[in-house]
This record gives sequence, structure tokens and C-alpha cells, in this order.
Amino acid sequence: MEGDESQAVASQPMMTFEELAKFDGIQSEKVYMALKGQVYDVSGSDFYKPGGPYHVFAGKDASVGLAIMSKEPEFTDPKKHSWKDLAEADKIILDNWVTKLSQKYPLVGILASLSDD
Ligand code: HEM
Repeated sequence: MEGDESQAVASQPMMTFEELAKFDGIQSEKVYMALKGQVYDVSGSDFYKPGGPYHVFAGKDASVGLAIMSKEPEFTDPKKHSWKDLAEADKIILDNWVTKLSQKYPLVGILASLSDD
């Protein structure tokens, strides 16, 4: 693959965590999930729809949950955990998820950082 990933990322629209949260398959037909701040459209998969095994990640940044293999909602709360603070070994696991899922789902946006308050 010869794609210039940084260009592709730079041209994506910015989205806040609040905006992302609406794409949970309940409030919106579309389902989005972020990984390391990059937002993917996962609507094509039943995994993230209501009733699906990974619905907890719908409308969320799933990075921490996937890195540590936990579906506990606290790990999708950006106020409690950030993938940037993961241990190096967990970051490697996370990068493997990104490699797999970024090939499967279209990139549709970039998550704005939480403002420090
Ligand atoms: C007993 C435990 C689990 C079993 C048996 C299981 C089973 C599976 C299977 C069979 C797939 C592949 C489905 C396919 O591609 O057709 C899959 C994908 C996946 N699993 Fe699990 N899983 C388990 C636990 C977990 C946990 C704890 C997490 C996250 C915290 C997780 C996250 C995922 C994700 C994100 C995918 C990829 C879905 C996609 O392609 O979009 N799994 N799992």
C-alpha cells in the first residue's frame, strides 16, 4: 500500500467526544468507533450494534478497552482513561487492533482532544 496516511488523516473532519457519542446505533443509524483518536464507520458490522457483543464501544474511543481486553464502560470514558497512558505492552496490542480494524472500516473523522479544565 502506497497511501499517504498523514494526508488522509489531515483531511478528515474533527469531531468531539460528545458528537462521537451520538453514533451509537441507537441515537443514530450509523455506528462510529474511534481508535487512537481516529474515528471509523463500523456500521457495516453487527458487532457494534445494539445487542451485539461489542456494542459498548459504539460511539466511543475503544482504544483502552481493546488494549486491555475489557468491555467495562469505565475504560471508554475519556475523563478516566487515555490510550496515551497505556503501558508499552498494551500499546502494542492496541496497534495490532488498529492495523486490523483500520483495514476493515472507513476512516470518517478525527477526535478532538478533551479540553483541559
Ligand atoms: C470469550 C471471549 C471472546 C470471544 C469468544 C471472542 C470472539 C471473537 C470472534 C470469533 C471474533 C471474530 C469475529 C469475526 O471476525 O467474524 C472477535 C472479534 C473481535 N473481538 Fe472478540 N471475543 C472475545 C472477547 C473479546 C473482548 C473481551 C473484546 C474487547 C474488550 C473483544 C473485542 C473484539 C473485537 C473489537 C473484534 C473485532 C470486531 C470487528 O471486526 O469489528 N473480544 N471476537
